[in-house]
Amino acid sequence: MPILDANTLEFISHSPEQTRRIGMRLGALLNPGDVICLQGDLGAGKTTLVQGLAQGWGSLDPVSSPTFIIVNVYRRPDESELYHLDTYRLESAPEAAMLDLDDMLDAGPLIIEWPERIESILPAERLWLTLEHIDEEKRGILFKAQGIAYEKILEEIRQTAFGGD
Ligand SMILES: Nc1ncnc2c1ncn2[C@@H]1O[C@H](COP(=O)(O)OP(=O)(O)OP(=O)(O)O)[C@@H](O)[C@H]1O
Ligand SMILES: [Mg+2]
Repeated sequence: MPILDANTLEFISHSPEQTRRIGMRLGALLNPGDVICLQGDLGAGKTTLVQGLAQGWGSLDPVSSPTFIIVNVYRRPDESELYHLDTYRLESAPEAAMLDLDDMLDAGPLIIEWPERIESILPAERLWLTLEHIDEEKRGILFKAQGIAYEKILEEIRQTAFGGD
């Protein structure tokens, strides 16, 4: 488990299940207002990670790529909401500007696939994950915390998933 610095963590997933598992650990730590960015090519495993995130956060709703409707909402029994945004099909910056991120962030955590497409409207503080295809079943996942709250989340993941260092 190479730790590059306090706000970076690198991890290699060897299966979709392992990607879901790391997602579950992260999902359990999320609160309203949290922004999780998932960058990576087609098939890198972003939606697979969101499946774990939603489950760890406490929703039993099925997770799918919100390709046509842009935003999926997952609910917990306590009625709180988790937002899953996929910007892949957004046509333009003005269209992106119509997304009311603030409204979503007031209500719950927000997960974003293809975040680089709307970077100009994203909060500066966020957890940025970069997923990289290594081979058939192997994916590199680089976590980068931007902001102290996200450094804390990363520290928790280090402790719970890898037993600290
Ligand atoms: N270690 C792994 N982690 C995640 N997915 C994996 C892994 N190994 C194989 N896969 C497979 O790769 C595919 C990842 O698809 P997924 O929909 O999660 O990608 P995505 O990044 O969301 O793509 P898109 O940009 O099209 O939305 C799935 O079929 C999954 O089973
Ligand atoms: Mg996807």
